Amino acid sequence: MNTHQKFKTYVPGQHVVRGIPFKAHKIDGFTPEMLEQHFEQVYGGAVRRLNEIEKQIARDDRNDALLAEHLTVANLVILHELHFLSLGEEGGEELSDSALTQAIEAVFGSVAAWRVEFSSMATLGEGGWAILAWSDRFGRLMNVRTIDSAQFLSDAVPLLVLDMGEHAFSGDFGLDRMGYVSAFLQSVHWVRVAERFHRSLGGAVVNEKADPNQISISELKDSLDRGDDVLVLDVRHDDDCERYRNRIPGSEWHDSFDVAAWANDLPKDKPVVVYCMYGFWVSQKAAEELRMYGINARSLSGGVTAWRAMGYSSSSDIE
Ligand SMILES: [Fe+2]
Repeated sequence: MNTHQKFKTYVPGQHVVRGIPFKAHKIDGFTPEMLEQHFEQVYGGAVRRLNEIEKQIARDDRNDALLAEHLTVANLVILHELHFLSLGEEGGEELSDSALTQAIEAVFGSVAAWRVEFSSMATLGEGGWAILAWSDRFGRLMNVRTIDSAQFLSDAVPLLVLDMGEHAFSGDFGLDRMGYVSAFLQSVHWVRVAERFHRSLGGAVVNEKADPNQISISELKDSLDRGDDVLVLDVRHDDDCERYRNRIPGSEWHDSFDVAAWANDLPKDKPVVVYCMYGFWVSQKAAEELRMYGINARSLSGGVTAWRAMGYSSSSDIE
C-alpha cells in the first residue's frame, strides 16, 4: 500500500454478493442444484444479514449479542466466498506452485500427508469449517478446524476453505462427510489458493536469519538436555540479580563490567553462552568482548526472562 492510496468511504449495509466463481455444472461430484442453493440461500442470507446488522450498528442500536453476531456473520460471508473460490471446474488444478508446496511439506511432510490430516480434521465433529491458513505469527501453514464461525486464529489468512455445514453437502452426499471432503479436495482450484498464499506472505518473515552471535532459548535447552559440554555464564547486573535470584542451572556469575579480569580464565575450546536479563546489550556486549579474547561466545537471545517464560528450571544459587 502506498501513502497516496485512497480508501473508500464506508457506508453501512452496502454489501453485494460476489458471483459464483465457477460454472456450477462443471464441479465434479457436485450437483449445480446443491451448490446454487448453498450460494443463494446460505451465503446470500449471510450477506443480507450482514447488511442489516451494519445498519443497526450505525443507528447506535447495539448490544453485546449483536456485536457477537456481527463477527459471526461477517466471517460467514468471508468464509463462504473463500469456500466457493477454493473450488475449480473439472477437477480443479494441480498444485504446481513450488512455494506453497514447500510450505506444506515444511509442516506436514508431504502434500499427501497434509491431505490426510486436513480430511480427518474436517470430518471431526459436525458443522463449522476446515481451513488451510497461513499465520504470520507462527510463520507456517496450519490446518484450522473451527465449529464456531466467530472463532478463528487472529492473524491467520485463510487460503483453502471447506464448509463443513450440513447444508454444504447433504444434498449430494447425505451424511457421507468423507465422500464430500474427498470430492472437494479433488476439485481444488490451487492456482487461486496459491495466489492467496503469495499475497499473505507480504509481511511474513519466512526464513528468519539467525544471528550467528546469538543462541536461542530452545537451542540452549536442547544442548543442556543432551549434556553437551557448554559453559553458561550469568553476566547480569547486580540489580537484575536482586530482582530475580535464580540462575539457569549450572551457570556461574561473572562481572560484565570487567570482562578483562576473567576472560583469559575461560577455556577456548568449548562453546560459551552468556546471558543477561533480556538478552540485549549486556550479554551481547560481553559475548562480543569474549570473542576478542578468542572465546567461542554467544549471547542468549531473550535472556533469563525468556528462559523463565518457557517454564524451564532454574537453580537458586544466588546467596
Ligand atoms: Fe455454508
